[in-house]
Amino acid sequence: MDQAPPANLTTRLEKARATLSAVGQAHLLDHVEALSTDQADQLLSQIEGIDWPEVGRLIESHVKQKPKFEMPDDIKPAPWYPNIPLGSHQALYMDARQTGEDLIRQGKVAAFTVAGGQGTRLGWDGPKGTFPATPMRGFPLFGCFAEYLIKAQEKYGTVIPWYIMTSPVNDQPTRDFLAEHDYFGLDSANVMIFPQAMMPAVDMANHKVLLADADSLALSPNGHGGSLKALWTSGAIADMKKRGIEQISYTQVDNPIVRMVDPLFIGLHALDKAQMSSKMLPKVEPLEKLGNFCMVGDKMTVIEYSNLPEELAHQRLTNGDLRFRAGSIAIHVIRVDFVESLNTSEHGFSLPWNRAEKKVAFYDPATKQTVKPEAPNAIKMETFVFDALPMCDSSIVYETDRMDEFAPVKNADTPAGEPDAVDSPASSKHIQTERAGAWLQQRGVTVPRNSEGHVDAVIEIKQTTAIESSDLASVELPDAIEPGSQLLL
Ligand code: UTP
Repeated sequence: MDQAPPANLTTRLEKARATLSAVGQAHLLDHVEALSTDQADQLLSQIEGIDWPEVGRLIESHVKQKPKFEMPDDIKPAPWYPNIPLGSHQALYMDARQTGEDLIRQGKVAAFTVAGGQGTRLGWDGPKGTFPATPMRGFPLFGCFAEYLIKAQEKYGTVIPWYIMTSPVNDQPTRDFLAEHDYFGLDSANVMIFPQAMMPAVDMANHKVLLADADSLALSPNGHGGSLKALWTSGAIADMKKRGIEQISYTQVDNPIVRMVDPLFIGLHALDKAQMSSKMLPKVEPLEKLGNFCMVGDKMTVIEYSNLPEELAHQRLTNGDLRFRAGSIAIHVIRVDFVESLNTSEHGFSLPWNRAEKKVAFYDPATKQTVKPEAPNAIKMETFVFDALPMCDSSIVYETDRMDEFAPVKNADTPAGEPDAVDSPASSKHIQTERAGAWLQQRGVTVPRNSEGHVDAVIEIKQTTAIESSDLASVELPDAIEPGSQLLL
């Protein structure tokens, strides 16, 4: 600092130095004398926002060593409600759908999108929700969700408030984007945006927290598990309670065809008095990279694909189906009072931390340069929302249909001419067209198909037109679609 720091900065510096020294991270302030007052203030504010004793514990348990996964010995596949009900399930599903619709209609359901991730694999410059995802309009993910909610509000004659979790990195761009697009037609009074908390990245070699710049720490969002705390600390839960919301419909920002509020799923969850429930997809192969829904004793648990022993992953039932078949796709319904109870419990709550080795660019105060590593150099730590499932007294799993609800945009496209990357913009657009084709066919439209059975056209159905195939009943449709043509409905 060119001049003596203001008195309160000096006091804050002393306090921060003591906190950091206690966990071996005092290096973060070694260069503080060279900073301007504003820069020192910014660095200190970031340092003051971190739970350093927790970081210290995690460095011991997750940075200095790789925590060992303890495989429980009493694990069984979790039961689930099938996508298509058979026998006695048929009456239950009718009841469940009615119950879910009633809850939505009565304004007791909120939509919640977790959008705090960094989207590094996609490589899009901006919040992932701003990514153009649909096959014809190139409509952004946030736009798809807003249109879904507009249609659902119209269908059920209600307001479905929308909560969006961002991170401090993408919060402002997210707000700006939604404001620039006039919330895609939603009433901004019913959209609440709030950021999640961050965790510092730690150098793998010397176990020191990294700087991103002279005046900032290398921080990254603390995982989607952070949503369960952020919902509380942001005041979102208080807002929900004021509005009479009972159920939170949790979805991710990367899936343009996700059902943001699904009456049947919400109803099955509500009838079973579940606290947090999940949708699943049957895995297409034993080692598909989806978490596995399991029961450990009487607790619902997701075991990550990398932790499920291969021998178990390959086990099959006598009918040939995988024994551990139910894969997690990060769609949940969560009771408001469950989130509240976690956050108000006497000893607080914490989800288990997960370690990821990543390339993290960092600032070296000695050379005043930013270093961009070629190989993973740092550990990032995240919590996962599904790790709250074992904290529930009751939890259900409901099977959904891959083509109907799962077209995530996670990875960047491959170069033209190469096969689509899995979970890429191109694969997502194909699934969107396939779903649209199937919905139209269900309404009697002749849909052209190629020799492999795929739709031979590009079709986009706006969510304001239909959020399920039955919504097309009131839409004027062509008798047939020309092969190779494009159709926007
Ligand atoms: P992913 O696990 O796909 O991570 O997030 P990501 O950050 O979006 O992408 P990569 O791994 O860097 O490529 C799944 C969902 O969880 C949200 C994401 O925004 C996405 O909707 N998420 C993830 C958060 O909200 N916060 C986080 O800290 C991490």
